[in-house]
Amino acid sequence: MDKQQLETTARAMVAPNKGILAADESTGTIKKRFDSIGVESTAASRIGYRQTFFTAEGANENISGVILYDETLRQSISDGRTVPQALNDVGILPGIKVDTGAKPLSGCDGETVTEGLDGLRERCQEYYELGARFTKWRAVYKIAEGQPSYACIIANAHALARYAAIAQECGLVPIVEPEVLMEGDHSIEACENVSQWAWSEVFQQLYYMNVNLEGMLLKPNMIISGSTCETQASVQEVAEATVRVLNRVVPPAVPGIAFLSGGQSDILATEHLNAMNQLGSHPWELSYSYGRALQAPALAAWAGQEANAPAAQAAFLHRARCNGAARTGSYTAEMEAAPAGV
Ligand code: 13P
Repeated sequence: MDKQQLETTARAMVAPNKGILAADESTGTIKKRFDSIGVESTAASRIGYRQTFFTAEGANENISGVILYDETLRQSISDGRTVPQALNDVGILPGIKVDTGAKPLSGCDGETVTEGLDGLRERCQEYYELGARFTKWRAVYKIAEGQPSYACIIANAHALARYAAIAQECGLVPIVEPEVLMEGDHSIEACENVSQWAWSEVFQQLYYMNVNLEGMLLKPNMIISGSTCETQASVQEVAEATVRVLNRVVPPAVPGIAFLSGGQSDILATEHLNAMNQLGSHPWELSYSYGRALQAPALAAWAGQEANAPAAQAAFLHRARCNGAARTGSYTAEMEAAPAGV
């Protein structure tokens, strides 16, 4: 492991005004997204859609890296370049999701543990050869009566830390993603309590597994009200609660925090990040690693038609610019009213 290279890569992933595009939907998840616009999901339609992001001119101003799915890392765009090559050509780092999904956690009613440790070293070595420079592993925690359980918290934290250590050994920066789901009628306080517990345990396990904190990123949920909670916290409350919990549990050695959007609307995800960056000084970069919040308007604009690629790219670049502005707290509602090029 080259510690210096890991740290340099991690810092580049959260460089000023930039964040990460999560385009690593599994085959099942991308099918659901395509179903929503009535498009058949095939290997050809998947790369046809995704290459609109990879070839959007100027994306590198606000996108530092793209998280890919195994299939995409091995695909080529229409001009014949492989996806990692096309991204490298514009200075965007290729990354790869390496977990194999959240599987039922035996004995814990409806809870999951994320799997994928078997053979992970060999897969990471191959991904590095194929051009990947960072990885992602997502753990999922549900808030419900008596949940998450201690077993869910400990099993997922342990797996995240084992994964992160292996990724670093292979020269890949691990994105450590403990996601407390927003689905449910729980309060923002419940999200705060569960997130603090889950993330604390993650950092405890990262310590046990000798993970180099300077060479990793955290990808957490924001502290928000449950999606069906009657009282929805304000943007300011979300920003303050999220930074408060991060301050309690994330060591300043971690270079950056790249939030997931988790089902928030694209605009709300931008507003929350913007408000956090307006709060004043914090020891880590506060950035984004959005999937839906960067892709949703582009997916709708694309609608499965190659001819719509320019409109899809404009919609994507607009969201990327808005989130880029949110990195410095300089996003404004006016940016939405007059989106350049859309
Ligand atoms: P969302 O931003 O759509 O939650 O996706 C981010 C991600 O990578 C989830 O693992």
